[in-house]
Amino acid sequence: MSNPGDLGKVAVLMGGRSAEREISLRSGNMVLAALQRKGIDARAFDPRDQGFEQLQTQRFNRVFIALHGRFGEDGTVQGALEVMGIPYTGSGVMASALAMDKWRTKLVWLASGIATPAYEMLTADSQAADVTARLGLPLMVKPAHEGSSIGITKVESIEKFDAAYELAAKHDGSVIAEQFIAGREVTAAILNDQALPLVRIEAPQGNYDYHNKYFGEATKYHCPSGLPAALEVRIQQEALAAFRVLGCQGWGRLDVMLDAKDQPWFLEMNTVPGMTDHSLVPMAARASGVPFDDVVVQILEAAHVG
Ligand SMILES: Nc1ncnc2c1ncn2[C@@H]1O[C@H](COP(=O)(O)OP(=O)(O)O)[C@@H](O)[C@H]1O
Ligand SMILES: [Mg+2]
Repeated sequence: MSNPGDLGKVAVLMGGRSAEREISLRSGNMVLAALQRKGIDARAFDPRDQGFEQLQTQRFNRVFIALHGRFGEDGTVQGALEVMGIPYTGSGVMASALAMDKWRTKLVWLASGIATPAYEMLTADSQAADVTARLGLPLMVKPAHEGSSIGITKVESIEKFDAAYELAAKHDGSVIAEQFIAGREVTAAILNDQALPLVRIEAPQGNYDYHNKYFGEATKYHCPSGLPAALEVRIQQEALAAFRVLGCQGWGRLDVMLDAKDQPWFLEMNTVPGMTDHSLVPMAARASGVPFDDVVVQILEAAHVG
């Protein structure tokens, strides 16, 4: 690691105004504590309470972005930091904005041969019978821009379709219906532009919803994943390709479903994944011998402008 003093005065951006504020505060406080344990001059910075110009007036040298969702993970904050010339962690403006949009992410992946489940964009006029005839049941209905499983419904019968659309549309003007992939779930963490060991997620009844992500005790995480080595390597390679084609930088996490034939289907790219000590990127890093505090420092060391 570089000398703690070399990294200067560091702002850990956390909280913010998105639906994922609470999760961001958890991540941010863990990141802050890790940096301080490493002797780095790090301070909390909540953009809900302080304007971004304060980053300049308070002479911060770099920024660790621990904001999830809109106004943080979506390229807006990255743009402000670019303009101010303050190095920040993770993906840049374009990749952050692209990855926040599940629809456009899928367009790029489809164009570049990365497998992602079949889907349709829904409107208030979409007919449940038509969509389910094309995508099958069950299917997933999701807002195109949220995270943390907010506004997502697994639609198991045609009667539930309209309510699922209404719920997703409450969160977002843009709603996706996606083919359901029945099978195992894994997540691929990327650190320093390399794929870490996969984490296999085993949620109760295969239902990895908001509750089971953050509050339930019932979800089990396996790292090492227990997948055959050749399959693990193949998924890691595809994950890295999926990360790169979006233009992502530094670190991130891709959510992947495996079907009955072990074909991986990429669901989404997270450019600022959770960073609590229970989160999946730290878990994957630990499995490759990198402790939490070192993960945080490595992400910070790779901070950049442009
Ligand atoms: N097409 C799908 N097939 C099967 N399960 C899915 C599908 N899409 C989402 N899921 C489940 O829902 C969870 C959340 O979906 P995801 O697209 O990752 O959105 P979020 O941004 O909320 O994390 C996934 O981790 C997975 O368990
Ligand atoms: Mg996800």
